[in-house]
Amino acid sequence: MRIISGIQPSGNITLGNYLGAVKNFVKLQDKEDITDFLVFVADLHAITVPQDKAELRKNIKSLVSIYLACGLNPEKVKIFIQSEVPAHAQIGWVLQCNGYIGELERMTQYKDKKERQVAGVSVGLLTYPSLMAGDILLYDADMVPTGLDQKQHLELTRDLAERFNNKYGETFVVPTPFIPEAGAKIMSLTEPTKKMSKSDPNPKAYISLLDDINVIKKKIKSAVTDSDGTIKYDIDNKPGISNLLTILSCITNTSIKDLEAKYKDSNYATFKEDVANAVANEIMPIQEKYNELINSKYLDEVLDQGRDYANYLANKKLNKIYNKIGLGRKR
Ligand code: AMP
Ligand code: TRP
Repeated sequence: MRIISGIQPSGNITLGNYLGAVKNFVKLQDKEDITDFLVFVADLHAITVPQDKAELRKNIKSLVSIYLACGLNPEKVKIFIQSEVPAHAQIGWVLQCNGYIGELERMTQYKDKKERQVAGVSVGLLTYPSLMAGDILLYDADMVPTGLDQKQHLELTRDLAERFNNKYGETFVVPTPFIPEAGAKIMSLTEPTKKMSKSDPNPKAYISLLDDINVIKKKIKSAVTDSDGTIKYDIDNKPGISNLLTILSCITNTSIKDLEAKYKDSNYATFKEDVANAVANEIMPIQEKYNELINSKYLDEVLDQGRDYANYLANKKLNKIYNKIGLGRKR
């Protein structure tokens, strides 16, 4: 089985990215039936909205350190930077030419981001899901682990794969999304009906894996809840408490039911204290590792190896795709 996923280097990696994505990559890397597992830094995706050059470079390197600090093992997972494998941009173009404007305009992430974009909406913001489909189809990935917000893009990927296969003959594996049952949508700490997002203008809304540990605890302790006083999972009426229960459940590998029983007679302050400590204890060792790695040569070694391997797989596939379409001379 082949697995692939990526994260955009567009700011601080949040607890949402960690619980919805990276923690699952770390779990999946030990599965026995894996032939290839690729995790990349989606820098080409990041430029769909304006980026500062120095910030972007910093964020790319930081994300690679985060991957490693969270426990991705380069012997099991190839880590690479998307723009260092040109075939991503090349297949992205091919898929743009097989996608329809209407289906791209229907993507909810596009509609949301378009609303928030003040300085003009780039064409890339619209066509981004076809690039993402390319990231996946280029490697014949069977499984794609992501958070819930990518579900629609993964469905489009499947549609594009099937459409291409029907038009040009069997070419692509149609991938299966892998969206975790718990943690697929961690919510904002200040507005728990909204997704926790690294681009939230209010830093209290999200926890960055690189926040100071005391700041992390404070953010959890001041998370918006309700005045009902019971610790129960109820998304509609108690979104804040439900979110904290989800976070604690993912980190401690305890079911929500067991947590509800444990905190049956507790008040919010005690409960929040426990969540804050659990999150802090999970993140502390990640930060220590991160600090050791961020300026080491090891990052380049990992990235060189990942780049070479990804290019090898991707170019082989790209040749096949070009041949199916009739581009260039037969190779
Ligand atoms: P992005 O930051 O948009 O590049 O997302 C990287 C990965 O993190 C994707 O798999 C997302 O689905 C996942 N993700 C982002 N935000 C959240 C969140 N609030 N809860 C769970 N997963 C998330
Ligand atoms: N679009 C994804 C996000 O914003 C990141 C991404 C790009 C991705 N290419 C991918 C995820 C391929 C999985 C597979 O979260």
